[in-house]
Amino acid sequence: MKRIFSGIQPSGNLTLGNYLGAIKNWIPLQSQGEALFCIVDLHAITIPQDPASLKSRTLEVAATYLASGIDPQNAIIFVQSQVPQHAELAWILSCLTPLGWLNRMTQFKDKAGKQREQAALGLYSYPVLQAADILLYQTTHVPVGEDQKQHLELARDIAGAFNRAYNQDFFTLPEPQILGIAPRVMSLRDGTKKMSKSDPSDLSRINMMDSDEEINQKIRKAKTDPEPLPESVEELTTRPEAQNLVTIYAALANCSVEKVLEEYKGSLFSVFKPQLSELMISVLAPIRAETKRRLQDKNELESLLRSGQQKASEKAQVTLKEVRELIGFLS
Ligand code: TYM
Repeated sequence: MKRIFSGIQPSGNLTLGNYLGAIKNWIPLQSQGEALFCIVDLHAITIPQDPASLKSRTLEVAATYLASGIDPQNAIIFVQSQVPQHAELAWILSCLTPLGWLNRMTQFKDKAGKQREQAALGLYSYPVLQAADILLYQTTHVPVGEDQKQHLELARDIAGAFNRAYNQDFFTLPEPQILGIAPRVMSLRDGTKKMSKSDPSDLSRINMMDSDEEINQKIRKAKTDPEPLPESVEELTTRPEAQNLVTIYAALANCSVEKVLEEYKGSLFSVFKPQLSELMISVLAPIRAETKRRLQDKNELESLLRSGQQKASEKAQVTLKEVRELIGFLS
């Protein structure tokens, strides 16, 4: 039986990267096994968050999950901090994780930058919490964007370390699932950088709540080169911005990059960009409208999350009870 777990931080506006690299790929998985989709607020506080925005963003992520087609009848939608076993297991796993493993994590190096000495301990140990999220549910499959690959390898290593220390077969080793046509959506201002909620330039990303006009404007202003679109995928590899826009088009149209080039080879960006905006709006506008509709009833959203919390807690407690016994904690 497949157990699927994934999560998104409520730390900023959700982007097209989160949608194409993660949420969109979760939809078909819900019917293939037991699926848990989490809003990982404990991860979000590894960098300072304004309390009021953290609350509203948590609800916004939940509303976007629902609006994108995650069905609470099929999948458990819940908030990480409402299931305290995540933090408890993270502590236990942190006692088994060598510092050397964490020192290899590129995301910490990127996020901490030159301020390494000022960076919070939580930012450093963040991947251990992520491993706890996954292992707590004996997850078999973790659908994520490409940037999470290293963290998932670490989660497997940490599961192995626990199994070696306590019981060879205890934790399931989770498989990363890097799915879809656009597992790494790039910035609209620089095709060599990932599209990110934390980029200081809003023009670098499409936010899930952007209006039609904002989408048009951002695509119009997206960095490109003066050449027309080429015939082959190989010719795109040296043109990161062109490659990114064509890949985004393909992911939104559910077709291959080859197919997009077949249609647009020889076209200038002045022709391609309006087509891309139109397609993007046709996909995102209904999700945005449904997200807004869901956000109007906060009580309904919160009660849905509480029901998710109950279901997730039941599963988490089973794992943690066994972990505590294996370690030798009194029950
Ligand atoms: P986060 O919140 O940065 O991103 C959430 C999901 O969106 C994907 N993603 C992208 N995919 C393609 N292109 C992009 N530009 C892009 N930006 C983001 C991410 O790969 C991710 O799948 N550490 C995680 C959250 C997390 C988690 C977990 C994930 C915590 N615990 C357990 C899976 C399992 C994170 O920061 O994602």
